[in-house]
Amino acid sequence: MTAPSAPSAPSAPSRIAVITGASSGIGAATARQLAAAGYRVVLTARRKDRIEALAEEINAAGHQATAYALDVTDRAAVDEFATAFKTVGVLVNNAGGALGADPVATGDPADWRQMYETNVIGTLNITQALLPALTASGDGTVVVLSSTAGHGTYEGGGGYVAAKHAEHVLAETLRLEIVGTPVRVIEIAPGMVKTDEFALTRFGGDTEKAAKVYAGVAEPLTADDVAETITWTVTRPSHVNVDLLVVRPRAQASNTKIHRES
Ligand SMILES: NC(=O)c1ccc[n+]([C@@H]2O[C@H](COP(=O)([O-])OP(=O)(O)OC[C@H]3O[C@@H](n4cnc5c(N)ncnc54)[C@H](OP(=O)(O)O)[C@@H]3O)[C@@H](O)[C@H]2O)c1
Repeated sequence: MTAPSAPSAPSAPSRIAVITGASSGIGAATARQLAAAGYRVVLTARRKDRIEALAEEINAAGHQATAYALDVTDRAAVDEFATAFKTVGVLVNNAGGALGADPVATGDPADWRQMYETNVIGTLNITQALLPALTASGDGTVVVLSSTAGHGTYEGGGGYVAAKHAEHVLAETLRLEIVGTPVRVIEIAPGMVKTDEFALTRFGGDTEKAAKVYAGVAEPLTADDVAETITWTVTRPSHVNVDLLVVRPRAQASNTKIHRES
């Protein structure tokens, strides 16, 4: 009988992990946790001040981080960013989010377009640009942060649900197409996560509407909960591919069945 594999990624200390949307929420928490797991983390997002401050915090804790301001929808900028890397161990496609909660009948096409651009084309841009470096690493991992919205719909979710379904399909298709190369594709699909900005962004800064999303829910997931699932999946031995991990708070049985304490 052989001993079980060690529960950590091979040579993690020398490996680079690129995280998109690292300026807040799940992305920032993932950056902290992957850095603590030994990765050299590269933090990207549009808000330079936020990622620079986080890189400073991570470096002060004795880990390794750099910040690079990047809009994932800007293909030329993404391609320029990718030239900095010969090899990349992990890419976490986390940048994204929702805009609005209008029904299909009245939803703003501009919101739908922007959600598709950020969640889907953004993921496509940076995954395409870094795929050669992920392959060159000999052991690459692409993480796609979709959502339970990528696996079922809900009223008022149309544009976001459509974009997250597309992101799910991107992950599934990529996995089929690159099988046999040393790159695995992991999809993480969280349910309700209480982060500082997600609902605020969705409702254009309306704090009341944003608060209602989590009203009465005893314990929504936190950014750290999701970062832990990401860190666990990417630190499995290379031959282990967690295709899809769905994670929800206990109080949420489905996208539409949520227990709220009054
Ligand atoms: N919170 C939830 O309930 C939940 C549930 C399931 C899935 N998710 C998904 O998890 C991911 C993170 O969500 P979160 O809750 O942590 O939200 P968040 O705090 O609003 O984080 C979104 C991140 O994406 C970045 N971003 C947005 N547009 C970008 C662009 N064009 N280029 C580069 N970065 C961009 C933002 O940074 P900048 O503004 O600085 O660019 C920010 O760092 C998203 O993909 C979201 O859809 C969230």
